[in-house]
Amino acid sequence: MGNKVKILDQTRLPQAEVYLETDGYETVVSAIREMRVRGAPAIGVLGAYGLALGALKIQTQNHRMFHSELEKVRQALAATRPTARNLFGALDRVMQAAAADKTVEEIKAAIVAAAVQIHHDEADATCKLSEFGSELIKDGFTILTHCNTGTLATTGCGTALGCIKRAFEQGKKIKVMATETRPLLQGARLTAWELKQAGIPFNLITDSMAGYFMHLGRVNCVITGADRIAANGDTANKIGTYSLAVLAHENSLPFYIAAPTSTIDLSLKTGDSIPIEERDPEEVTHIQTMRIAPEGVSALNPSFDVTPNRYISAIITERGIVRAPYDANLK
Ligand code: MRU
Repeated sequence: MGNKVKILDQTRLPQAEVYLETDGYETVVSAIREMRVRGAPAIGVLGAYGLALGALKIQTQNHRMFHSELEKVRQALAATRPTARNLFGALDRVMQAAAADKTVEEIKAAIVAAAVQIHHDEADATCKLSEFGSELIKDGFTILTHCNTGTLATTGCGTALGCIKRAFEQGKKIKVMATETRPLLQGARLTAWELKQAGIPFNLITDSMAGYFMHLGRVNCVITGADRIAANGDTANKIGTYSLAVLAHENSLPFYIAAPTSTIDLSLKTGDSIPIEERDPEEVTHIQTMRIAPEGVSALNPSFDVTPNRYISAIITERGIVRAPYDANLK
């Protein structure tokens, strides 16, 4: 990373490929909050780099003052988005690297090394889990997926989209149905962009079309990513995932979650304690900058929902495929 990070601004895709380069953690804080970088593993990686940028800018050689400044940076990054477990895990890992008994300059070097290692580990985990997940995708399958879970969301091979890409690379004749994913259209803007680049046949559908196609028998399985998985397997993911899981169950289709173990939060017994981000209602009353609802309309905008473990056929991780009972098997 040197002393800068360079990020692809996902809010500008697919119209333009614009990169932001910064050496300031404040820019990282706004990039995560404004979803210029989004997707649980990618948020974790960028959060770690943000903490490293913040550390590099701290001037003092005094340990106590250094740690107090570093804690302020950590808090700013932790306050960006509450749901994805990866952000908090990554910030904790960097803080542990900073805890060692060394000079301030040595601590800064350890922090940078930890951030680079987190980047490597997250990317690597998604490539491994993609290999496992591809085994669940049979030749001829049409896979329905939600939101964006590819390289953009992970810095690596992807989670749900990683499994799909891997199955395609193995020569399986597959097709994808990608939901547009209102309100911010990660499916229409980002998944469609990644699928097109990979040359994988796909159709874009609106979120409300999913049940119709499942009922017609045109979907063989559903795979999504995750932002946080509780100890019992309950899974928070992009709003609309719960409805897809219930629809998959109703239509006797397997519903898989693909996520690195850094998304699993064993400290939470069930999904009821997963913090759900509420975003600006303007994301619902508008499509990008265009208002679609009358002036003054009040909208609700939870960014995630929780799918109860009973609807999840398996959780695909880099350490293997986990099935129920999740309480025992995730551990
Ligand atoms: O609000 P976002 O775009 O950050 O939400 C992303 C998702 O919900 C993804 O499905 C999840 O982070 C898993 S991505 C590998």
